[in-house]
This record gives sequence, structure tokens and C-alpha cells, in this order.
Amino acid sequence: MNTLGTSFKITTFGESHGNCIGVVIDGCPAGLRINVDHIQKELDRRRPGQSSVTTSRSETDTLEILSGIFHGYTTGSPICMIIPNKSTDSSFYEENWMYPRPGHADFTAYYKYGGFNDNRGGGMFSGRITASFVIAGAIAKQLLSESLNIKILAYTSSIGGISISPTNLTEIIGEVDQNIVRCPDPVKAKEMINAIEKAKQEGDSLGGAIDCVAINTPIGLGEPLFDTLEGDLAKAIFSIPAVKAIEFGAGTKFSQMKGSEANDQYLVANGIIKTSSNNSGGILGGISNGMPIIIKTTLKPTPSIRKHQNTINIVNKNEKDLSTQGRHDPCIVPRAVPVIEAVVAIVLADHAIKAGFIKHVLEKLE
Ligand SMILES: Cc1cc2nc3c(=O)[nH]c(=O)nc-3n(C[C@H](O)[C@H](O)[C@H](O)COP(=O)(O)O)c2cc1C
Repeated sequence: MNTLGTSFKITTFGESHGNCIGVVIDGCPAGLRINVDHIQKELDRRRPGQSSVTTSRSETDTLEILSGIFHGYTTGSPICMIIPNKSTDSSFYEENWMYPRPGHADFTAYYKYGGFNDNRGGGMFSGRITASFVIAGAIAKQLLSESLNIKILAYTSSIGGISISPTNLTEIIGEVDQNIVRCPDPVKAKEMINAIEKAKQEGDSLGGAIDCVAINTPIGLGEPLFDTLEGDLAKAIFSIPAVKAIEFGAGTKFSQMKGSEANDQYLVANGIIKTSSNNSGGILGGISNGMPIIIKTTLKPTPSIRKHQNTINIVNKNEKDLSTQGRHDPCIVPRAVPVIEAVVAIVLADHAIKAGFIKHVLEKLE
């Protein structure tokens, strides 16, 4: 289904080659001053056609606000925002609808919806739907920053086997958008760019990972047992197409640690209770503990590739050799960085309202 959250609730709509992509946000408190330039800037970070390592589909992704914002402030009623689709070329999909692309959702969508789904450009399974997450996330980021000083930052930590070590947030603020792969290490960034360009020339694609950090989260976000912060973050991040694994804090490294190494020990710094390490990634018992929330997300290589691969004709079951044409990201990771930030912001905003850290009216007009 297409609705996420209960207190800060988003409903997304649109398909890759339909009229528009959009979102309705319900439950955003009234009186939040909205910086429209900031929303557009976030969209520009995700926009297609921004560099040689992204798809050549050229969209301006210009934001249109249809409701819920008046005199520059949220009104408390549903906020509806859209971006039109302009640069659509559906020819490949019209000719090849019966040949599911290996690795894409064409096969499962065909069986799930009996072939009625809009398959052009991947339809609702296209990376394009994540523009709606970014619009909603930009509002959530403003809400979190304004009311709780929460800041969220994501960056590329790995592409095609080229990786950087986890890094301190304060060291990389301002660095992430300095190169087209959004990796804060300029030397590794160059290697990543070369690797993507090589894969692209070979008609292939690469996967990778994105690290995300959220700071200044209060203690107490998360509603155990079933609406834990980890659970809700993971659910939301898994709605981003191509995401295949999520880790919190030390993640899979926990399997190689002893308890004495894994436990984050308590200390008091400037009167505040903290931990000397952050292996739990800022979450204990499904509840935020006040330390930075640390999430690693792994994305698979883009399924649509020019390299020939075997598929079948979904109607007569004959095998076929398929080379996917059209415009595709040779690596999804750089464009997914702002999407991860957005989705994390949406979930934190939802939990912050639910736990009573953000009121339903932020400012009162005198
Ligand atoms: C920002 C973004 C851009 C994407 N671009 C493409 C693309 O150009 N071509 C493609 O085949 N898949 C692309 N994808 C991934 C597919 O949408 C995704 O792999 C597919 O829907 C199958 O879903 P799954 O990989 O989650 O199982 C993109 C995903 C994101 C988040």
C-alpha cells in the first residue's frame, strides 16, 4: 500500500511515465515556516540527468504546491505537492512489455496485477517514485530541524567494492555534494566514478552502500513492541527500490564480536549520559537512546543493463535474449543518497510527533 506513518502520514502517488509524481502529507503540525527553495534543492540533488554517472533522462523536477501551505506556513491541513513528468520515452516498454527485465519488478508486477499495471519506465516500481519521498522528507527535515535541531546526513560509503570507513559527521558536513558520487573521500570518489564509467561502457551497472547519520534525536523515539524505531526505519527504507540490506550501528559485525566489545559503556559528559562507543547505532530496545542513529543501506546494481541476458516471453514462455535500451542509472547509489535522508526524516518526524516531542501547532499567530 502507499501510505506510511500514523502521526506524520505520507501517501504517495504517480508512475514513471504518467502525468506526475506526488505526495499528500497528513498530520504535519501547523505553523511550520516552509522554505520552498530548500525543498527544490533537495529535489535537485535527486533529479535525473545531473551527471555522467546518472541516467540521461532530463527532468527539471519543478515543485508545485497544491495545498496545505498559506503565507509560507503549514496550515495543519493536508499538504499536497507534485512534480510533473515531462521527459518520457516509452517506446522500449511498448515494444517489450512481454519480456520482463531480469532483476526488475516487471515479472512480479505482471503476475500481481494481471498485466494491468503501468509498466512504462517501471511504472510505480521506478526509482522516479522516490521524488515523492524527497519532497515529503524535505518538509520532515524542516520540522525536525526547527523543533528539535535534529540533522540528518547520508553519504556514499561504497560503490562496486570501493569503500570508505565510517566517518564522523562533523568532518563530512559540506563534503558530500562536492563530487558526483556523493562520497566524502575525494580520492575514493574518483575511483568510484571511474568504476561506474567502466561498467557503463561495458553495458553493465554497479551496486553499493549509503551510510546515514541522524544527530540530536531525543531519548524515547520508538513504540515497542511492533513499532520499534528500527522496525519502522527499516520498513520505510525498504520501500526505496533496489534496497536489499539495512544495518544499524555495528550491524552484521556483531556476529564476530564478544559482549564486552559489543556493549556500549555509559559515561557522563557535560552532565549528559552518553556511551563511549555507538555499536547499537543509537537504538536500544527499539527506542532511541540519544546517541547518533547510524544506518547502513545496501543497494543492488541497476537491473536495466545493455548487456544481453536471458528472459522469457511472459505470454508464450519462449526464451529470449534481452538487452535493455532506454535511459538508466549505471549506479543507483549517488541519486539514492538524498532519498535515504528523506525517508529517515519522515520516520523520525512521525515518531517525534507520536512520542509528544513535537506539538500540533508550532507557532501561534498573535
Ligand atoms: C533513485 C533510483 C533510481 C533508479 N534507477 C533505475 C534505473 O534507471 N533503471 C532500473 O532498472 N532500475 C532503477 N532503479 C531500481 C529499480 O526501480 C528496482 O530495482 C526495481 O523496482 C526492482 O525492485 P527491487 O530491486 O527493490 O527488488 C532505481 C532506484 C532508485 C532508488
